[in-house]
Amino acid sequence: MTQIGIVYGSTTGNTTKYAEMMQQLLGKERADLIDISQAEKEDLARYPNLIMGISTWGYGDVQDDWGKKMALLQEVDLQKKRIALFGLGDQEAYPSTFVDAMGTLYEVLVDCGANPIGAWPMDDYCFDGSTAILNKQFVGLALDEDNQEDKNTNRVETWLQRLEDQWLT
Ligand SMILES: Cc1cc2nc3c(=O)[nH]c(=O)nc-3n(C[C@H](O)[C@H](O)[C@H](O)COP(=O)(O)O)c2cc1C
Repeated sequence: MTQIGIVYGSTTGNTTKYAEMMQQLLGKERADLIDISQAEKEDLARYPNLIMGISTWGYGDVQDDWGKKMALLQEVDLQKKRIALFGLGDQEAYPSTFVDAMGTLYEVLVDCGANPIGAWPMDDYCFDGSTAILNKQFVGLALDEDNQEDKNTNRVETWLQRLEDQWLT
């Protein structure tokens, strides 16, 4: 039975790329891909485990499709779900709002009663500020396709392995 929903919103395809990589690594029999622009309430409600991917646009804004569908999260009972976030951003061009959308999504989820996990260390990034930082860690996996593409596969593999150890089993 498929147990993991990978819900993503992407404007130029970077978040899609890593959502697809995660599906491959987790296995297609376990993980479904859900484009948030097409998502309905049931698409989120039926998975016990959710991985949510979001990119940051404007100056710290959520990706457009996520922006249009954010209210959907309030319609789903998220309290018992295991939820982990990843965020795409550009730390060189937007050092003061790096992956802010992941921080916004985290806050919305907490307001909905969820307790997202999958925090990720800030080591090896260079930026000035981000609303996606809590207790000196990112609230989820931060990926920078514009400047650190070479690090991303390893980051995704390590993060997923930690999730497997924590809660995907
Ligand atoms: C106009 C524009 C605004 C952006 N604003 C931010 C930002 O505020 N913070 C950030 O971390 N990245 C920002 N980015 C970088 C994107 O988040 C990054 O390129 C990301 O990989 C895009 O992912 P997507 O193709 O899945 O939407 C911006 C990029 C553009 C072109």
